[in-house]
Amino acid sequence: MVMFPPRALTTASTRLLLALADHDYGRPVVLAFMSSVPIQSSKISALVERIVYLAVSSTEIRHDAAIAYTGRAVIGKEETTLRLPTVNCGPQLGTVGRNLEDPTMANALHTHLCDELGCAYPIFGFTHSVDAAIAVTMSGGIGIWGGTRSTPEEIEAALTRMHLELGDLPYGIDLVIPPGMPEKDNRAEVEAAIPEQHRQFVADLRERYGVPDDGLPGMRTRFIRSEASARAQVDVVLDSNLPILALGIGSPSWVIEPAKERGIKLVSLVGQPKHAERALQAGADIVVAQGYDAGAHTGPVGTFSLVPQIVDVCGEVPVVAAGGVATGRHIAAALAMGAVGVWTGTLWLVCEEEHKDPKVVDKLIAAGSADTVISRANSGKTFRQIRTSWSDEWSSEGAPSPLKMPYQDVLVGDMLGQIDRHGVGPLMHSGAGQSVGYLNAPSTVAETMSRLVEETNDALHRIGR
Ligand SMILES: Cc1cc2nc3c(=O)[nH]c(=O)nc-3n(C[C@H](O)[C@H](O)[C@H](O)COP(=O)(O)O)c2cc1C
Repeated sequence: MVMFPPRALTTASTRLLLALADHDYGRPVVLAFMSSVPIQSSKISALVERIVYLAVSSTEIRHDAAIAYTGRAVIGKEETTLRLPTVNCGPQLGTVGRNLEDPTMANALHTHLCDELGCAYPIFGFTHSVDAAIAVTMSGGIGIWGGTRSTPEEIEAALTRMHLELGDLPYGIDLVIPPGMPEKDNRAEVEAAIPEQHRQFVADLRERYGVPDDGLPGMRTRFIRSEASARAQVDVVLDSNLPILALGIGSPSWVIEPAKERGIKLVSLVGQPKHAERALQAGADIVVAQGYDAGAHTGPVGTFSLVPQIVDVCGEVPVVAAGGVATGRHIAAALAMGAVGVWTGTLWLVCEEEHKDPKVVDKLIAAGSADTVISRANSGKTFRQIRTSWSDEWSSEGAPSPLKMPYQDVLVGDMLGQIDRHGVGPLMHSGAGQSVGYLNAPSTVAETMSRLVEETNDALHRIGR
């Protein structure tokens, strides 16, 4: 669905709507437009039956951004209630001539993945904020909530909320289920295996930077990664109405088989062709080719080298490109490499719906693409983040080599939580990819999505698609 928010029904926008309605898209489409000024619905429905008119009087309507909208609509002559992921095509109104020549430009980034998942744009947005994930889907993409550090109860609450707010629209959860974790959540056992040198290093950091010990855990120590905790998370996911399950690390058959039986679409993140082969064997429905540029846990192969190789391995299975995607030019490039969409993470970090601490937002906005480093100091696995005193300390001379997961989690987890809770500026940081260089100001998810769509259309138009 394409949504036009003309301020008033001008001759130009009427002509544009008619041109779009007349165009043969080769598949069923609903065209919608809305206006903040009341317009006689009969005037529009008399023009063309395929146009949905939303009579909107809210003052919250933004003309420069996509918004989510639930309201009364007139389809032909029938009045009905619609719940719509709205997609702004406002910028196209400024270039009506181009759209009249080629109305498909309204959504040139439509791929078969959009039909498969039921979204306007093949843009996955990974985020740890439920609000942001919902906003991504409501803006026409596919919101994926990173739930791997959440308890089963929190996962249940988040999925219930997403289902209530998003209904049949596409959304999902991402879990990380690394192999080799302890069987049970037993902190004392993990603690006992941490070397004294590592404890000393962390105690010294705490003292030098004045990190208060409030006795509370951090995100990585609220519970300790184990097979048992992963199974409890997965049980909740399988009992929900979830349409998409993404697996960041690990694809165990005890997850894949029941998920497939329930018709859940499985997404696997991979960083090398051999991982893609394994993901296909395990039953992945969509493969994310995540390149070295990416934020957080990342592999050794750059996005440009990786994506075409993964596309070749995957054949008919859809591949989406991840790692460094932050503008429409990146999306156009991903499509040119054979991907049918993109998977993004860093892009949403400074969105309002992410609710990040302003100190971290400032660091993200100040950082350029060369200001990220890969460190194992957060979780024991390679984790790309903005460079701060945290990463510098762990790579300084004399610093111990970080432990494996979950030992590193337990070693630093409480302190990481305390650093954030007490605003210990120099050590505060965030996972982020090299595309952090494109984050120039806070925005909303809808504004970011709207920008991506406009830029991709422009980029594809430039290369003659
Ligand atoms: C702060 C942050 C945390 C992330 N956490 C996870 C995670 O828990 N599970 C996962 O599969 N991917 C995670 N990712 C990776 C994203 O899913 C995605 O692949 C990546 O961000 C894409 O590259 P980009 O950062 O250049 O957009 C994270 C990314 C960021 C930036």
